[in-house]
Amino acid sequence: MSRLYLLFLGVLLAELNDETAAVTCAPGFRVSGMSCIDEDECEDEPCGLSATCINTQGSYYCQCVTGFWTNNDKVNFTAEEGVECSDINECRDNNICGPNAQCSNSVGSYYCTCRPGFVASNGQERFNASQSVTCKETPMSPENKISCAPDAECHKTSVYCME
Ligand SMILES: *[C@@H]1O[C@H](CO)[C@@H](O)[C@H](O)[C@H]1NC(C)=O
Ligand SMILES: *[C@@H]1O[C@H](CO)[C@@H](O)[C@H](O)[C@H]1NC(C)=O
Repeated sequence: MSRLYLLFLGVLLAELNDETAAVTCAPGFRVSGMSCIDEDECEDEPCGLSATCINTQGSYYCQCVTGFWTNNDKVNFTAEEGVECSDINECRDNNICGPNAQCSNSVGSYYCTCRPGFVASNGQERFNASQSVTCKETPMSPENKISCAPDAECHKTSVYCME
């Protein structure tokens, strides 16, 4: 290889380097070769444990996970806003579980149970509002029937007989 050729190559490389250094990118983008590509801000997990990070071109935003809500009432936020996602107390809505049911809040969620003397229409002990379950009176137990005469009608709540 001739010395002249090596010199030429050296100058070419130096110029390439210069051009790379000259590429400047807008915030949220980084240099890749001769161009700018989007930086994935979510890689640094800026949103915390109770929020999801969504990367966008040149930026990102956070959203609280299901069952959590921001303390500034915003849906979308960034780490710079100092927003915290707190557990939603779903039970504050008195009617969420429907009639004859009680509500229990839990972190990130909640569940409903039927009041004593009632059973859930889907037969499960716990349910939630999205399952359209209703609480029905516990069906008469066979023991209750025994207290009535064979040809009498037996009524549940307070066991009494109709002749
Ligand atoms: C949150 O951001 C997404 C994506 O930009 C947008 O579609 C949505 O409307 C925003 N929601 C609110 C309430 O600003
Ligand atoms: C309600 O319960 C169903 C079944 O367990 C579950 O798949 C669903 O995520 C629950 N929804 C809420 C809002 O908790």
